[in-house]
Amino acid sequence: MAQIVAATTNQKKLVELRKLLSSQEVEVIGLDRYKNYPDIEENGVSFEENASIKALAANRYTDLPAFADDSGLCVEALNGEPGIHSSRYAENDQERIAKLLNALDGQANRRAKFVCAIAIAFNGEVIETFVGEIHGVIGDAPRGANGFGYDPIFIPDGYDKTFAELPSDIKDQISHRAVAVKAAVQFVEDEMAACFNDFN
Ligand code: IMP
Repeated sequence: MAQIVAATTNQKKLVELRKLLSSQEVEVIGLDRYKNYPDIEENGVSFEENASIKALAANRYTDLPAFADDSGLCVEALNGEPGIHSSRYAENDQERIAKLLNALDGQANRRAKFVCAIAIAFNGEVIETFVGEIHGVIGDAPRGANGFGYDPIFIPDGYDKTFAELPSDIKDQISHRAVAVKAAVQFVEDEMAACFNDFN
């Protein structure tokens, strides 16, 4: 069976990718398979650049076609921050949320979006990147226990609940990650079947 490496050790992301690629004759391999995989510095200035850095590194290390993603929350009133710094914004999810709510204290504009970029690398080159977004607003206080990260304060447009209050199957259908992954899977189906056949 053809193989693709997903540049992550996050089991939730691997499960999601395997589900989305289940109609394909493709085995999705995680980086946990490679015990000596080096730390890769994410020093890009955009989500696409960071996803590309991770995909290229995984492709070069494993010699397999590689997928990588990079994501974060961009808040309009904070000039797009925390953006690519979302995971480094504070020590843990609770502190990240508190810091963001504090930064927005008294701010009327609470518009924000989640962004996810996915890059696919093959034969030492990034061959395509995909970006998914979901727009919404930042709530006044954290609500809900589902999901992770900034989910308790993000209310997607068209809903009155936060991502952490919505059932996970709704988030999985509409999220920035779902949009980007679907586009990437479509590309793999349309364009990469031949690569896999040649390669594996
Ligand atoms: P990474 O792409 O896994 O490095 O995620 C970057 C950071 O953005 C995460 O640590 C979260 O803080 C935030 N983030 C990305 N996607 C989501 C999401 O779907 N919900 C909540 N937070 C997210």
